[in-house]
Amino acid sequence: MLEQKQYQPEMDVREKLDFGLDETIAKYWVDGCPFRTRIMDAMQISFPEGERYFIMSVRPFKQDITDAKQLADVKAFMRQEAQHGIAHNQYNELLKKQGMPVDEIVDQHKDIIQNKYLKKFSKEFNIALTAGFEHYTALMAEAFFSRKEVVAGFDPRMKNLLAWHAVEEMEHRSVAFDVMQNVANVGYAMRVWAMMYGTFQTLKFMFSNANTMLKADGFSRWERLKLFTKNLGWMYGRKGVFSSFTKPLLAYFKPSFHPEHIPVVHNYPAWVNVFNETGDAAAAGKAFVAAAH
Ligand SMILES: [Fe+2]
Ligand SMILES: [Fe+2]
Repeated sequence: MLEQKQYQPEMDVREKLDFGLDETIAKYWVDGCPFRTRIMDAMQISFPEGERYFIMSVRPFKQDITDAKQLADVKAFMRQEAQHGIAHNQYNELLKKQGMPVDEIVDQHKDIIQNKYLKKFSKEFNIALTAGFEHYTALMAEAFFSRKEVVAGFDPRMKNLLAWHAVEEMEHRSVAFDVMQNVANVGYAMRVWAMMYGTFQTLKFMFSNANTMLKADGFSRWERLKLFTKNLGWMYGRKGVFSSFTKPLLAYFKPSFHPEHIPVVHNYPAWVNVFNETGDAAAAGKAFVAAAH
């Protein structure tokens, strides 16, 4: 992994994008597979609450930021995250129409964020937790969009939604980290502990939410176990979706780590150039995938 800072694109807040999310999106929009779809749904269902939490974790430090560029970055980060929450909420509404217990899952997340994270943990630990979660989301572009094959069987509208989100996560990847390090003065031990705790929480909720949704879909315990086993390779195989970003993920544990040590995903310019020319997130998403390996 390269130690020097790499090219870092500027943040752009793209508002009120329309991805055409409606009931015509197939229930199992990832490769026609219930398990893969519900894993992606489990990740996406947590985005709106999670992003609200990221904003709330950064907010207490805003008044202490003296650098004008950093303050502008924090504001742009908050606006980008707010837009992501709005867009993913639209899809969560569709999940409700499929009979998914969205409110139950979201209320559980809200309860943990409000009554545990924000009430029991220090503001320093919360910003460290957010910086850790943001490292995951910053790697979404690498995991899903650096290779064509990963998203080949995704519904195009969901693919475009995720492409936009992944691009903006990469654009604001250093914001929470820099606030944690330079404003909250969080040291290495807390950063690493928060990342481990955040990883545990992410895995726990991803699998338990997917399990809850598959149960609501009518799959028995045995069928759910079979689906899980069958898709282990898709998740954690040599070319698995989640194994592809293990290396940059682990880089977070280096004491000298900074998000900008990781190169921006190779096809990033394809998305941005088309979006800047057309203002069309669907066309940009298509160009992003076309330029993938
Ligand atoms: Fe986001
Ligand atoms: Fe983010």
